[in-house]
Amino acid sequence: MIFKEAIQQGIPAVLPAPKPYESEINHAPKRKEILTDEEKKLALRNALRYFEPQHHEVLLPEFKEELEKYGRIYMYRFRPDYKMYARDINEYPGNSLQVKSIMMMIQNNLDYAVAQHPHELITYGGNGAVFSNWAQYLLTMKYLSEMTDEQTLVMYSGHPMGLFPSHKNAPRVVVTNGMMIPNYSKPDDWEKFNALGVTQYGQMTAGSYMYIGPQGIVHGTTITVLNGFRKIGKEPKGNLFVTSGLGGMSGAQPKAGTIAGCITVCAEVNPKITKIRHEQGWIHEVFSNLDELVARVKKAQENKEVVSIAYLGNVVDVWEKFDTENIHIDLGSDQTSLHNPWAGGYYPVGISFENANEMMANQPELFKEKVQETLRRHAAAINKHTAKGTYFFDYGNAFLLEASRAGADVMNPNPTLGREFKYPSYVQDIMGPMCFDYGFGPFRWVCASNNPEDLQKTDEIACQVLEEMIKTSPSEIQQQMKDNIQWIRGAQENKLVVGSQARILYADAEGRTNIAKAFNDAIKAGKIGPVVLGRDHHDVSGTDSPYRETSNIYDGSRFTADMAIHNVIGDSFRGATWVSIHNGGGVGWGEVINGGFGMLLDGTLEAEKRLKSMLFWDVNNGISRRSWARNGGAMFAIQRAMEAEPLLKVTLPNIVNETLFDD
Ligand SMILES: NC(=O)c1ccc[n+]([C@@H]2O[C@H](COP(=O)([O-])OP(=O)(O)OC[C@H]3O[C@@H](n4cnc5c(N)ncnc54)[C@H](O)[C@@H]3O)[C@@H](O)[C@H]2O)c1
Repeated sequence: MIFKEAIQQGIPAVLPAPKPYESEINHAPKRKEILTDEEKKLALRNALRYFEPQHHEVLLPEFKEELEKYGRIYMYRFRPDYKMYARDINEYPGNSLQVKSIMMMIQNNLDYAVAQHPHELITYGGNGAVFSNWAQYLLTMKYLSEMTDEQTLVMYSGHPMGLFPSHKNAPRVVVTNGMMIPNYSKPDDWEKFNALGVTQYGQMTAGSYMYIGPQGIVHGTTITVLNGFRKIGKEPKGNLFVTSGLGGMSGAQPKAGTIAGCITVCAEVNPKITKIRHEQGWIHEVFSNLDELVARVKKAQENKEVVSIAYLGNVVDVWEKFDTENIHIDLGSDQTSLHNPWAGGYYPVGISFENANEMMANQPELFKEKVQETLRRHAAAINKHTAKGTYFFDYGNAFLLEASRAGADVMNPNPTLGREFKYPSYVQDIMGPMCFDYGFGPFRWVCASNNPEDLQKTDEIACQVLEEMIKTSPSEIQQQMKDNIQWIRGAQENKLVVGSQARILYADAEGRTNIAKAFNDAIKAGKIGPVVLGRDHHDVSGTDSPYRETSNIYDGSRFTADMAIHNVIGDSFRGATWVSIHNGGGVGWGEVINGGFGMLLDGTLEAEKRLKSMLFWDVNNGISRRSWARNGGAMFAIQRAMEAEPLLKVTLPNIVNETLFDD
């Protein structure tokens, strides 16, 4: 069956043959046993409702086995036979160019070269799902292939509820992921309701179809490492950055360290993943012996090398060993998946990787104890280093939060709202004040022709736009502009494209709008094909997350989620092609609300109107909130935006003279 027909048929009327479990694929770990026997029946009933009753007898035992073996029903039998990747937009069946762009983005998120656990429909972060099972995928693609620009597809946490009549200026798809009644948003609630098949963890760009492979995170991490060294007043060259995790996102750290120009040591317990990063060239050398690692790092420091080194083992061993060996760590962080500590995100020290996986599935309480014990040791070792001058920051993976819950010594002795921990998050010290408050965030685009030449042309266009803008940019944002011009100039050389022909750069509202308008003009002139715009949810406005994106909000409002909700609602009526809002993502279920959009540029006047209206709102919504919280950079940026756009009128804060509080 040809590709288009396979998409159009949706869930096949005749059952396909069962598929073998391919052990060479990186599979999701077995999820913890959480359902009662009655709830298991409910999960099975829920799964079977996607299929005609005549198939239930065959499928019931099969799904039951999946639930027992993997803790979830993925419906492996229904994995499509065609190759999964972002095709040229014209290869998709359908009635709407906008909708075809969404199909392309969905397939990119499930591409084997891109996705972490492609057979379980997980794109990254261990549990960041595009769909919960293959029936949802098949049904969604079918709906997309038949809908028109007078309909909107409604997605409930991976489940396509259906097509509803709307109008051509409405989003074609509206996505929600993991939205829970607040009291049911604890990690075990995710385990339970996900196993029941009624919700999923969309992470940020997994369930919103906006993942662009590792490039996005490499760029963001490079900016963080560069600015981290600026923060401590040191050159990266010859100085040491220690961290851990070589997974979906964390794997970017050694590559970013090399682009920034430092020595990176990154610990990883999973040999498969370490091998992938080594073969990919993001890791230069791998050590599994601590003494050899120490000798190598000392040599790299002496010779001021730029090198990335993996330690195959537990990160706690590295922090402890470097302390006893007196290796000075300049910059320290951690990117294990602590948003998901009990289900494979963080591995206990002193236990082999295999044994830990077994313990996780069979002795979850003991596993939890071991994880918490490890977190206490981890924090104690970091504390020894920071006492000797290391600058440590939390890398948005809930390290400090989970360490504090484990009783580790990470609390600020003089806590204030927003500064509860001993150490800052990377947003509090680095990304917030240096980027987000000024509106700079992870703008991205995907060339829908999937032609690398189009990407090169868009790189050139973006570079020209920024070079023009920097001539008149105020001094407050000159560094940002310079970093991004340098990035876009070197983007082709860094060869970071995996999957779709995508690019990322940090830009403010004006930069995003000018670049998008220039793309739309180039499409109109026939120089390039259509372009999808989007961004990471990890942005100025996309995410309310008190320990990460909004951790540098100090007026108490960082525990609210009005901004993220407003953002998505506002984007949806200002022209987004699709919008999404998620619970979870980054720091964990119940800990964050995040949202984003996708927008297809097709060279039309309508696309120009949409991009101008939506991008202006999308960025300035977050800046206004940051300004109201009295963040200096944001107060500057929002006043600039009001000067540029007379229809914008934002409430500005008055600053209290602190001496009034003196007794
Ligand atoms: N700051 C950011 O910009 C940012 C961006 C994306 C993700 N994150 C967060 O970073 C975390 C990592 O994301 P990811 O996609 O790489 O997840 P991942 O699960 O793919 O990778 C984490 C890796 O850490 C390894 N690991 C776990 N415990 C370890 C230990 N004790 N010692 C050594 N290695 C260990 C795991 O084997 C795994 O490979 C997540 O919590 C994510 O939400 C932060």
